[in-house]
Amino acid sequence: MNKVTNDRAQFATKFGAIAATVGSAVGLGNIWRFPYEAGVHGGGAFLVCYIAFLFIICVPVLCAEFALGRNARSNVFGSYQAVSPRKGMRLPGYLSIAASLLIMGFYSVVAGWTMEYCLTSATGNLESITTAAGHGEFVEMTTGWRPVLWTMLFLACNTFILMGGVTKGIERASNIMMPILFVLLLAFCVNSLLLPNSMAGVSFLFKPDFSQITPSVLLGALGQAFFSLSLGMGTMITYASYFNSKTKLVRTAMTTALLDTMVAIIAGLIIFPAVFSFGMSPSEGPKLVFEVLPTIFAQLPGGAIWSTLFFLLLFIASLTSTVSVSETTVSFFCEEKKMSRKSATWVATGIAVAGGLLCSLSFGALSDVTIFGKTFFDLFDYVSSNICLPLGGMICSLTVGWLMKKRYLEEQLTDYHTHRFRFIQVFVFILRWVCPAAILLVFLNSIGIM
Ligand code: PHE
Repeated sequence: MNKVTNDRAQFATKFGAIAATVGSAVGLGNIWRFPYEAGVHGGGAFLVCYIAFLFIICVPVLCAEFALGRNARSNVFGSYQAVSPRKGMRLPGYLSIAASLLIMGFYSVVAGWTMEYCLTSATGNLESITTAAGHGEFVEMTTGWRPVLWTMLFLACNTFILMGGVTKGIERASNIMMPILFVLLLAFCVNSLLLPNSMAGVSFLFKPDFSQITPSVLLGALGQAFFSLSLGMGTMITYASYFNSKTKLVRTAMTTALLDTMVAIIAGLIIFPAVFSFGMSPSEGPKLVFEVLPTIFAQLPGGAIWSTLFFLLLFIASLTSTVSVSETTVSFFCEEKKMSRKSATWVATGIAVAGGLLCSLSFGALSDVTIFGKTFFDLFDYVSSNICLPLGGMICSLTVGWLMKKRYLEEQLTDYHTHRFRFIQVFVFILRWVCPAAILLVFLNSIGIM
């Protein structure tokens, strides 16, 4: 265990490691998925559950994933096998490949929309639309073959970056772009709060009505917390395997969780005040952000420029996330199947293209095809976030809690004994009992057993 292979890539600096993990965590999950999930699940009640799950379950699981990855300095399969070589330890690896296929499928479709909205804004066509037209625009942009093309274009960008390796292209781009996105979000947030009747939106998000907490709200919040922190599918294990020994694991985990939550809340503070101000419904589902945002931009002076910039940054934030999803699969094919990085990238892209095609056509030719009452798009989103990721998180938590040698865990949490970590017993207890039990309870609850 704890073998250090010197020819493996590493993030060059501590900042680079944080930028990459935050880049993976912050994406469409915060700006597109969080507001629509919160909108569907009653706003404040959802937010309370989300934050509780984030800090009680997800931050410990994030530390566990980091410890697993840096300990082995290997891909998901190698990381689990380093803890225990038994056959069952391959299961989390397969689960992560499956989750990556599903996530890439629907995520690249939405990322394709951001590219299309970016171009449409740049040409000035999104500028003067009203709410009703915003809806028409969305329908027009998401049906038929055009979005398929955008999905493929997005996947081409993803492949291009993966080919070049993660460190140079994506790390550098996210170092510059993420802060700009953050500032822009804050500016839009202030703008939204100044709209008439904006306070209705603020109370929708911050005033929890506890009677609204149902099993589906709990499962939705848990799934969102996992999705938003890129947990449960080996992404953070893979990224931590590129951390150097100076990276502070626990601090990096806390920073990632805090920044990620902040971006999600700011996105909520942009969307909900506008939703209530323009008399729209917060429970529109996946199209919410794409209908509300253009309406906000249309009201601003120089709206076309704001809108172009916003969708451009959103596109980049999506790219830093999909690269991390794909990197999980690519590192598996490279290290376990001994493929070259190039071939591994093509295989990962092939899988993503298949998923992207099905999800993209869910809004057009395949809109009538449903499984369990859900289109491919909805199904991929639901199964990956609400089932695969929490399950993956549970396996990780049990593996690190019960099977990883304390000595190695301590080595990771103290960053190779450069400082003390006093809460190791508490941490192990949380991983052994609290996280698995909480995830199990939410699952059982949601299928109606409890
Ligand atoms: N966390 C990313 C987001 O919020 C999505 C993601 C999920 C990335 C799972 C990697 C793994 O957009």
